[in-house]
Amino acid sequence: MEKIQESSVFMENKNLIDLEVLSTEQIDKIIRKAKKIMQKPSEYRHSCDGKILATLFYEPSTRTQMSFQTAMLKLGGRTIGFDNPMNSSVSKGENLKDTITIIGGYADIIAIRHPAEGTAMASSLYAGVPVINCGDGGHLHPTQTLTDIVTLSCEKGRLDNLKIGICGDLLNGRTVHSLIKTLAKYDNNSFVLISTKELSVPLYIIDILEKNGCKYELSNSLAESVKDLDVLYMTRIQRERFASEEEYETQKNVFVLDKEKLSKAKDDMIILHPLPRVNEITVDIDDDPRALYFKQAQYGMYGRMALILLLLQDEEFFIKSKKTEVCEHKCKNPNCITANEPYLPHLCYEKKGMTMCDFCDKRIY
Ligand code: CP
Repeated sequence: MEKIQESSVFMENKNLIDLEVLSTEQIDKIIRKAKKIMQKPSEYRHSCDGKILATLFYEPSTRTQMSFQTAMLKLGGRTIGFDNPMNSSVSKGENLKDTITIIGGYADIIAIRHPAEGTAMASSLYAGVPVINCGDGGHLHPTQTLTDIVTLSCEKGRLDNLKIGICGDLLNGRTVHSLIKTLAKYDNNSFVLISTKELSVPLYIIDILEKNGCKYELSNSLAESVKDLDVLYMTRIQRERFASEEEYETQKNVFVLDKEKLSKAKDDMIILHPLPRVNEITVDIDDDPRALYFKQAQYGMYGRMALILLLLQDEEFFIKSKKTEVCEHKCKNPNCITANEPYLPHLCYEKKGMTMCDFCDKRIY
């Protein structure tokens, strides 16, 4: 294995690929900044004058794309980008490296969503400007987690000592994985993981909970588990990640939060959802004071404003990367970006004696 050069673009840029590499101090710094912006937004309206954000969305989005665009506009900057790669030269076969290299020459910061795991990380190798991961397949969605923790901090007043129920598609829900990884770093959080057996959290997430000494339980009953939660985080079943429609049909509508189940919850429990909602929360709950999912999306915009400012302007806000090396073996995960972009270097890191792909975090050998 040879070391990646210290001087590579990858090492020098500040990117947000995975919240896991941030310390709790860095996370708290983003939250503090978001709260300051919320209190006096007018003070920040020229903070990014002359700066350009590129939003490259290879997958559909409402909230993440538009909240990033709004965030940059509110900071005085401008935006470019696409929300359908088929309207760009991707439709002519342009590879990721070329697209990102070109856009890195136009924009000051890039926000990217892509169906392949590890795409934001791959983009960071070529962009020359900070890259923000807006969702890479079923892997991670760190700015949704930022949205969630800004909401928790504002609405519960803390990120520790919480009993958090997470319900729905815990296998494919990238927001779930990012949220658990982040909240596991804070003291005395416990988790109730509510799902069918088929859609339970991946083992690597259980490993993280155990490594951090977090209490957790697996449940298949929302009605039973809702009673003593501080936070209920509902998620939709990720239809687009299923191999067949038949498989999806067996999983949809298994867990639905309705008025009857909510009547068993604590008065100060809050309901979050990354959205979009499909059927998993009935619409008649929207007016319940505990239903905070629409407010949550607004908090997300302030979190993204804070993140853009810290990545572009705060020299001390250095987001470190993992210790990466070049490996002779290729990642075997068919959903990894390396499966479709063969020129990418085989980057890996060591974890508990195993060699992990640096793009998708799956085991290589
Ligand atoms: N929560 C979320 O990522 O929403 P969008 O898919 O609409 O961006």
